[in-house]
Amino acid sequence: MSVKPKVFVTRRIPDAGLKLIQEATAAEVWTDQLPPPAAVLRQKVADCDGLVSLLTDTIDAGFLDKAPRLKVISNFAVGFNNIDVNACTERGVCVGNTPGVLTDATADMAFALLIAAARRIVEGHQYTLAGKWKTWEPLGHLGQDLAGRTLGVVGMGRIGYALAKRCRGGWDMQVLYHDVYRNEKAEQEFGAKHVDLDTLLRDSDFVSLHTDLNEKTRGLINAEQLRKMKKSAVLINTARGPLVDSKALAAALRDGTIFAAGLDVTDPEPIAAGDPLLKLPNVVIAPHIASATVETRDQMAEICARNLIAGLRGEPLPAWVNPAVGNKRRR
Ligand code: DGY
Repeated sequence: MSVKPKVFVTRRIPDAGLKLIQEATAAEVWTDQLPPPAAVLRQKVADCDGLVSLLTDTIDAGFLDKAPRLKVISNFAVGFNNIDVNACTERGVCVGNTPGVLTDATADMAFALLIAAARRIVEGHQYTLAGKWKTWEPLGHLGQDLAGRTLGVVGMGRIGYALAKRCRGGWDMQVLYHDVYRNEKAEQEFGAKHVDLDTLLRDSDFVSLHTDLNEKTRGLINAEQLRKMKKSAVLINTARGPLVDSKALAAALRDGTIFAAGLDVTDPEPIAAGDPLLKLPNVVIAPHIASATVETRDQMAEICARNLIAGLRGEPLPAWVNPAVGNKRRR
């Protein structure tokens, strides 16, 4: 009987994937609610062939150098900014992610945050809970209209496209987008216009971020960019917290530079207890739950398992972040 490859799974993931992993490998699963501390993770992975990581696990060169047997890292997320992919490629370690399956869930979340922030729904809910609802107020709780307005999508990939489709189809919005690549499908289907970032910020009523986090996009939306936006504008971020300078955002929300924000991601995560954003009525903050639907997480778990198993078998990963690893690949 051949020995099963040794794998560490940094958190319990849905059974749809976990069962596949447990059948094919000798897997240890970290079952705490919080991630394993960095030192513990290093020690656990030291003699592993495979790793299932989350976006809360930092994988860098130093980590990889302590894991000489590691062949594959399967990240339970579409984003992989927690992993130094170049360092993995140089060392022959395959990296997998979970694209595609969370597109609709994430676009739905962006859509939900957009309405919630524009129409002040959470603020209204808190007002109701606090017993402040005394009468119907002609001048109370005024938000922003959605129909016929302009959506600006920063990063017109799968998720940006799915949000734009909703906004165009549901509210007949004009769509502007900023991206290094043209998205001809979005241009043809709903007349999305490719513009520079300044134009997008200046002309959009709703600005939604869907770009990767990397050294070029970190702090992309800072005080200067916020000042270019309309006073009635709403900023939505379901991508990564550090795309936005959160101190500048808090100041812009406080002094009326922009109208509101809806965030599913913050910097840091979780948001610090004393963060100024927590004191503002015009921001809605969710705890990074855009992909959190039963069906989506099941599908993520399954792709994650298939990436891991393919990596261990020396096969192509179904969702392979670094096929450039080529012949260097550890077997
Ligand atoms: C991702 O997959 O990158 C999300 O941020 C979490 O689902």
